[in-house]
Amino acid sequence: MGAARRGFLAALAQRKGFSVAQEYSDAVTHVVSEQNSLAEVLGWIEGKTGCGVQRTGRQKSPHFLDISWFTESMSAGEPMSVEGRHCLQGDRTSSSTDKADHSAVLPYACQRRTPLMHHNSQITDALEILARAASFRGSEVRYLGFTRAASMLKSLPYKLQSVEEAEDLPWCGGHCKSVIQEILEDGVCREAEALKASEHYQCMELLTSIFGVGVKTAERWYKDGVRKLDDLKDPKFKLTTEQRLGLEHYTDLRLPVTHEEADRVQCMIREALQTFVPDIQITMTGGFRRGKQQGHDVDFLITHPDNSALTGLLKKAMDWLDGKGLLLYRHRKERSHAPHRLNRNMDGHETCYSIFALPIGDLKSERDSVSSGVARSIGDSSGVSSPIWKAVRVDLVVTPYSEYPYALLGWTGSKHFERELRRFSLQEKKMTLSSHGLFDGDTKCSIAATSEEEIFAYLGLDYVPPSDRNA
Ligand code: CTP
Ligand code: MN
Ligand code: MN
Repeated sequence: MGAARRGFLAALAQRKGFSVAQEYSDAVTHVVSEQNSLAEVLGWIEGKTGCGVQRTGRQKSPHFLDISWFTESMSAGEPMSVEGRHCLQGDRTSSSTDKADHSAVLPYACQRRTPLMHHNSQITDALEILARAASFRGSEVRYLGFTRAASMLKSLPYKLQSVEEAEDLPWCGGHCKSVIQEILEDGVCREAEALKASEHYQCMELLTSIFGVGVKTAERWYKDGVRKLDDLKDPKFKLTTEQRLGLEHYTDLRLPVTHEEADRVQCMIREALQTFVPDIQITMTGGFRRGKQQGHDVDFLITHPDNSALTGLLKKAMDWLDGKGLLLYRHRKERSHAPHRLNRNMDGHETCYSIFALPIGDLKSERDSVSSGVARSIGDSSGVSSPIWKAVRVDLVVTPYSEYPYALLGWTGSKHFERELRRFSLQEKKMTLSSHGLFDGDTKCSIAATSEEEIFAYLGLDYVPPSDRNA
């Protein structure tokens, strides 16, 4: 391994009372390496000492081990008895190294790296169905249990091969293990399949996928006999403006927003904002910042070093877009005056939840034609009309410059990563983290930060880049 890592691990071992030799000799009892095969390690020693390792005769041969033996021994505070899984194999051992090192799987999602693509999606898909079904039934505890298990498995750098490997993993209880076992043995999880096929699950999925509809509303409608979208046409169902538009643009809003579309939305917003503040700062957050290629909406964070430049800006920019016929809906929420008093899951920034009418195809001519109002289609010469815009959900958040790093961290997600960051802060550091700041339990005073890296450092966490926050 590299010199810095070796130095760090050697110091750690010495602090725990292990004796660490600088060079190979007959006195050495355990040889530890990282991501090497036995052949590579033997060859390396031979090169260093000029003679091979005596593996027979009077002198007992040392154990040749991968790093898992070392990390387990460090947590135990004494040398672990050597088991087969610790021993270096003849060929490359990088995957078995990762696998055996369960002590590396930390309990909070914000302590782990969770890339977008991972190795256990069949299992996590099933667990996420169980999680969603639990939330549809109103069971937050079960929802969280399955979500935490799924999130933990997404962070594993290898594919689980047996249920035994899940033994020491955090959040992997009996129910989770039975799902793992079923998937590994049969390729399907019967419970998840049955839920997916059930009327309640399908209907709740359908209803909660409408903009403006949460689990409680969906459950009430389900109890009132709603089974398909058309059932909501009955005037006895009183829909909010959001829900009415959610239904009206249901097909568009269910289509994923592509990266290319998100970039075009950003151009439109930049143009609107720059009309009033030329040097405004705009950052795309949410799933796109985490490297997703598509999303259910586009999220933006807006800031400026001069606070006064932000006053009234969002309203003016949205009016400007509306004047060009580019908006189907907007709901603006003013900034809360006492952000630190908000519940830690709430966000007090000035925010605008909106639906854009995003021009499709030849941007310029179509934008000209929509500028006189939101007309859905233009007739072409054949008499068949083609749509000229697509409804796209957009969230805009305005943050004072001093809170920008916290807002950026809070709006990059994923939702589970955020939830875990806040839980970690409160439980492990006795501090309240929000998208406004990091507040000390007593003083209610936020710690100033100039970057996300600083916030992770305050919390004593290794920095996790956005692309590894897909928990
Ligand atoms: N968020 C928030 N307050 C809200 C809504 C969202 O702080 N009222 C945060 C969420 O916690 C999340 C981020 O904004 O971290 C993005 O939320 P969302 O757009 O719902 O999810 P994405 O991760 O962007 O997923 P998708 O690509 O499907 O949009
Ligand atoms: Mn989003
Ligand atoms: Mn959003």
